[in-house]
Amino acid sequence: MARAYTNIALIKYWGKKNKQYKLPYTNSLSLTLDRFYTDTLATTIDNDKDIISLNDKLLNDAESKRIRSYLDIVRQMYSFDDHFQITTINHVPTSAGFASSASGFAALAGAINETKKLNLNRKQLSILARNGSGSASRSIYGGFVEWIAGRDNESSFAVPIDETPDIDLTLLSVVINQHSKKISSTVGMENSVKSSPFYSNWVTLVSSEIKEIKQAIAQKDLQKIGEISEHNAMSMHALTLSANPSFTYFAPETIQIIQLIKEIRQKGIFAYATIDAGPNVKIICTKESIQRVQTYIKQQLSNVTTVVANIG
Ligand code: PMV
Repeated sequence: MARAYTNIALIKYWGKKNKQYKLPYTNSLSLTLDRFYTDTLATTIDNDKDIISLNDKLLNDAESKRIRSYLDIVRQMYSFDDHFQITTINHVPTSAGFASSASGFAALAGAINETKKLNLNRKQLSILARNGSGSASRSIYGGFVEWIAGRDNESSFAVPIDETPDIDLTLLSVVINQHSKKISSTVGMENSVKSSPFYSNWVTLVSSEIKEIKQAIAQKDLQKIGEISEHNAMSMHALTLSANPSFTYFAPETIQIIQLIKEIRQKGIFAYATIDAGPNVKIICTKESIQRVQTYIKQQLSNVTTVVANIG
């Protein structure tokens, strides 16, 4: 059995240079969380088809397509032809507002490594996980993690920056709605790369923000980490609005929460926003600020739910 935790990108991955291997245009940097994880068991079976279950439910062909295609890639990469029974329990409730693909593919890579006795090191595991979902490459490590874009399948993998950082950061996830997104991150990235006139600026911006945030992490400069993360997330979402045709992951409440966070900061409370390919907002807080941020958000918006996660 292999377990992997989900992660939240502070400097986002947004755009694939190579679709087959999920090679990104830029490096990205994330924080692994302590609460949401996936447990996966892989056993080899005497069958010409993989059998996949998620949360005790057998998946049909359509539901398991992405995982079966991934297993084909793994078989090709490591030159074996076994099929698997994959049993996955996801402890990433959709109600927590996090995507489960990062922990899901990292756990699956770990489970296959274990069952097939591939003896992969963490770099190789990160490469294997990336082939399932880009952000999964970072879930191989804890704490602050950087995914190095690389040039090819062998050179694109995550590295740890600080696996057990002694830093006062806590994340508050504000869940607006739990519907699965209409535009997948793959399609959203493709449209942004193809048609946003700002895409080349994004590539330049990320390379300078990665340097700045790594410096801020080393200096435990919380305010800098918050500022850079929020700016990076807003810049990613500007790529969707400037695509042609334009699109957005924001719901009306997303913008309301962004405004509330600015108000909260004006009161001298530490709070910065980051948002992935969906409407939910993750608020970067400190242990001291989180309670007040949570109370303020709940007072202003009665029908959102909030979940707290720490660095894991
Ligand atoms: O790994 P994917 O294909 O689910 O893409 C992740 C995209 C973002 O969550 C928006 C950013 C990131 O770096 O995690």
